[in-house]
Amino acid sequence: MPGYRLVLDVMASTLAARRPQPTCVLVPGCGTGAELSAAALAMPDALFTAIDPSQGMLDVARHKAKADGSHARIAFHHGLLDETGPDLHDAAMLSLVLHFLPDDGAKRDLLAGIARRLSAGAPLLLVDAVKPDDDDAALRDWLRRRGHSSAEASAVIERMQESWHRVPLERLIGLLEQAGFHIREPFFRAFGYLGILAERA
Ligand SMILES: C[S@@+](CC[C@H](N)C(=O)[O-])C[C@H]1O[C@@H](n2cnc3c(N)ncnc32)[C@H](O)[C@@H]1O
Repeated sequence: MPGYRLVLDVMASTLAARRPQPTCVLVPGCGTGAELSAAALAMPDALFTAIDPSQGMLDVARHKAKADGSHARIAFHHGLLDETGPDLHDAAMLSLVLHFLPDDGAKRDLLAGIARRLSAGAPLLLVDAVKPDDDDAALRDWLRRRGHSSAEASAVIERMQESWHRVPLERLIGLLEQAGFHIREPFFRAFGYLGILAERA
């Protein structure tokens, strides 16, 4: 993802700068813990609920948290969000998960599950890939300039176009609103990758 490191820093600082600062952050689809560890380091008093259906990913996240000293503040759950308790959180991060889910109710259900676990006004920092207007031409050009061969760039874009479930930005906004979020502002955009700050209505 272009700008991934920057996005992690922006998410962490956006949460850390909120007043009151979040005390309990939900991180579904935490993967290997990238946004989790960035936010845990930026907010040394906050607690986290980190969830992922992949045990392998979760093991890496746990290992990272032990290494950076944030482990005691993170409750790790192996599984899906709906298999965890209904506890309320005062912030959430959902990074690079939604585009893996089909738009057959699965995206909406995940967003609604997050909304149910957030207190009123709590922020959701969403990072996702939407369907760009240019058929990924600009991303292809960027990949080539980064030194990838034409075949490598084509393979990346083919996977995104055929295996991912990207929706247009307007649809993503509609799904967020249906799930019970107000859109506050975009905080990142590079090609079809974007970051949106939404708040629980
Ligand atoms: C590309 S990784 C993103 C990891 C991390 N959030 C990041 O930004 O680096 C996608 C993650 O979503 C998880 N995942 C897949 N299906 C999911 C679902 N239905 N609910 C939550 N997470 C899911 C995968 O196991 C994987 O760890």
